Amino acid sequence: MGNVGATEVPVLLSPEGLRIDGRRLDELRPIRIEAGALHQADGSAFVEWGANKVMAAVYGPREVHPRHLQQNNKAVIQCKYNMAAFSVDERKRPGLDRRSQEISKVIAEAFESVVFAEEFPRTSIDIYIEVLQANAGTRCAGLVAASVALADAGIPMVDLLPAVAVGKIAGKIALDLKKEEDNFGEADLPMALVPQSGRLVLLQMEGHMTPDELAASLDLGVRGCREIYEKMKAALRERYAATVPSGGTP
Ligand code: CDP
Repeated sequence: MGNVGATEVPVLLSPEGLRIDGRRLDELRPIRIEAGALHQADGSAFVEWGANKVMAAVYGPREVHPRHLQQNNKAVIQCKYNMAAFSVDERKRPGLDRRSQEISKVIAEAFESVVFAEEFPRTSIDIYIEVLQANAGTRCAGLVAASVALADAGIPMVDLLPAVAVGKIAGKIALDLKKEEDNFGEADLPMALVPQSGRLVLLQMEGHMTPDELAASLDLGVRGCREIYEKMKAALRERYAATVPSGGTP
């Protein structure tokens, strides 16, 4: 309390190799995914991932707004990532900032690689991502939520897109950074994977890594994505089982 303004660097890795929340270096934060969390949207999903809480809603294929973005040979994929003003400790200026624009753009581009957009010419597929509580890795949580929401909306895709950030803390490569690790660590590397092909469709990096560390990070991230992929499929199976009862009344 009396320390307001002081930047005390926390111990990110204990002598036993455990992180501030007790995780090992290759461990994900707990993830809960709920498919179909909203009734209005064509598809939706809610993701709680560590202390992140992210809602995604999908509308479409539908009429394109603004009209001039319409494409004659395929659907346009539009994404709006937004952080609620109450989602972070320090009050965030509400509305579109450069960071939100960048994240919206990279997420839309990631989905352009997997959605069969040519099946829906002259339409728009609109993805809305609302971060209600943020604790690092929100673009990955947004991608996971949006991916499940797209599947929930019945949009045909090559595959779901699991995503995770790998980073470097106290000189070690670590899976799925939380806020303090993101703030005080040496590098942050969010990625999204097409599990069937092993192709990465989003890869960004902040900070510094050696080529060997980068290779190790990609390995660890791909393993993390595959673990998240199973949880995404389970959430969709659960949703499907809940809406199609096996005999008897709904
Ligand atoms: O969320 P993500 O890791 O994808 O993106 P980032 O730009 O690396 O932000 C890391 C974290 O910083 C966010 O998840 C928030 O917890 C925090 N942040 C914040 O407190 N205020 C902002 N205006 C933006 C981010």
